[in-house]
Amino acid sequence: MTQPRAEVIVALDLPTGAEALRLLDRLPRARWVKVGSIVMTREGPALVRELVDRGLRVFLDLKWHDIPNTVAGAVESARGMGVAMATVHCLGGAAMLEAAARAAGAELGLVGVTVLTSHDAAGYAAALGRDGVDLEVEVERHARTALASGLRGIVCSPHETARVRAALGSAAWLVVPGIRRADDSTGDQVRTAGPAAAVRDGATHLVVGRPILEAADPARAFDEIVGEAG
Ligand code: C5P
Repeated sequence: MTQPRAEVIVALDLPTGAEALRLLDRLPRARWVKVGSIVMTREGPALVRELVDRGLRVFLDLKWHDIPNTVAGAVESARGMGVAMATVHCLGGAAMLEAAARAAGAELGLVGVTVLTSHDAAGYAAALGRDGVDLEVEVERHARTALASGLRGIVCSPHETARVRAALGSAAWLVVPGIRRADDSTGDQVRTAGPAAAVRDGATHLVVGRPILEAADPARAFDEIVGEAG
């Protein structure tokens, strides 16, 4: 089966909205951007609206985890702003995921965060009050619940992409951070993959921050990553 080309999402992990917009002025071919908690808390919806007005697809990564009614309300607000993709935390459970999926409708692609990559098996088991867990089994379990609850897909590391793709079938969105070209520094990422390998394993969206943000020529880095993902 030929895997379709993945979208490259530029993670706007910059301290201010002004810096994010200046970066985007240098990335005329970017189609997708990720807005996370830090810049969203600082700048609020005005930044999202500006990005949408510029014709960009906005991935709002706030990892909602609350009672179903509250998460559904947040999803509706995001949808009203024209957000194209957003995250909810799978640990919120099936009732929360189902309420979120209903609120998202067809135009907002909701994806589930499975196990945060900052967890190791012992820390995750302790947080759940269990004796021991296999993180890959946990990722797959959450991924199946997310899809059964009506979500469009999940976020996973390159390490789990092939397994999750096999478990979920071909339609799910797999949003994959930790993308590095051969010469990129890994930074604090442990489980990385090149764009081509991630796409081969089943990624539909690649989230890329520092390899673009810290490049001397961000447009060139972006184009190279898109080329490798194609
Ligand atoms: O700079 P870098 O390419 O490592 O950025 C990756 C982006 O993806 C960051 O915004 C980071 O917070 C996010 N992310 C991640 N690992 C996850 C989930 C999200 O790196 N498991």
